[in-house]
Amino acid sequence: MTTFWSTYISVLTIGSLIGLTWLLLATRKGQSNNTTDETMGHSFDGIEEYDNPLPKWWFWLFVGTLAFSVGYLILYPGLGNWKGILPGYENGWTGANEWQKEMDKADARFGPIFAKYAAMPVEEVAKDPQALKMGSRLFASNCSVCHGSDAKGAFGFPNLTDNDWRWGGDPETIKTTIMSGRHGVMPAWAEVIGDQGVADVAAFVVSKLDGRTLPEGAKADVENGQKIFAANCVACHGPEGKGTPAMGAPNLTHPQAFIYGSSFAQLQQTIRYGRQGQMPAQAEIQGNDKVHLLAAYVYSLSQGGSAETVTAK
Ligand code: HEC
Ligand code: HEC
Repeated sequence: MTTFWSTYISVLTIGSLIGLTWLLLATRKGQSNNTTDETMGHSFDGIEEYDNPLPKWWFWLFVGTLAFSVGYLILYPGLGNWKGILPGYENGWTGANEWQKEMDKADARFGPIFAKYAAMPVEEVAKDPQALKMGSRLFASNCSVCHGSDAKGAFGFPNLTDNDWRWGGDPETIKTTIMSGRHGVMPAWAEVIGDQGVADVAAFVVSKLDGRTLPEGAKADVENGQKIFAANCVACHGPEGKGTPAMGAPNLTHPQAFIYGSSFAQLQQTIRYGRQGQMPAQAEIQGNDKVHLLAAYVYSLSQGGSAETVTAK
């Protein structure tokens, strides 16, 4: 805090305390306990107010509050840059400092446990019930906002329990995904192949790659769609549309794993405008050891483990 603000806050605080003390004393009606029948002379909806002194206990409560504030401001930081005379607040008091202290305590306590698991291969950790419990807690606080508390995903966020992977499902790849994050880039095709082209290639995905029937009245030429697919899509999604994990291009023959919807209309939307799914990198936020546990937890889910059984106490 600059000297200006420190002085400003100190002057305001001390000024208010002095002002309040003065107000309290100045308005005090002597020490007499005598109550009177005199009223203040005003009436609200027929309710009048007697002109009596403050009850004693009330007065002393005020005094106590003022004394407490003064004592507090001497002992603890609060008055501008004053650090208080108690030890332990050299950096001032802030929520962030308190949080950091608690985190340091937690790290000292749990660090060795995290480190023990971090030294084991992800597959091994994925068999350890205590590790899975820790992983599930980390997941609940850091991942469930996007992937759901059951890890089954939502629109735009992949299901992590279905063994259908966009980037790959072996333990090390899962760990890399979580550590470094991922950015899937599906280009927009409207300008390249036109609206009819979009409809045709979407129809090809639905009917040929997925083996589903097109909605009635769909105006699309599946054969032309196949040509468009061969010319524009195979580079990323592969010649059979089974996907390329290295670039996060999903398998288009598993519509149940599509994250942007699998209907004919939704597919056209995806193809027309493109998609940019982003998985945020966790290396900086969680650090290696926690990501290791998270990777084990996610891996276990895909191996038949269930989010419910792990989180159940
Ligand atoms: C440059 C590589 C690339 C090309 C070329 C490409 N795609 Fe994609 N596609 C991707 C990636 C990466 C994703 C995943 C995007 C994401 O996760 O946000 C994707 C996603 C999709 C999806 C959504 C799947 C889901 O989960 O909802 C569909 C459908 C799709 N592509 C169809 C096509 C079609 C049809 C073509 C050809 C016209 C095509 N793609 C060309 C890379 C590509
Ligand atoms: C802000 C939302 C968000 C959060 C938070 C988030 N993710 Fe993701 N995650 C995504 C998106 C979006 C994708 C898909 C990226 C793409 O389009 O390829 C993804 C992809 C993944 C994948 C790859 C799935 C596959 O099919 O290859 C894994 C594994 C994963 N996330 C795990 C996690 C874990 C573990 C956490 C918690 C530490 C987490 N995610 C937190 C949005 C999120």
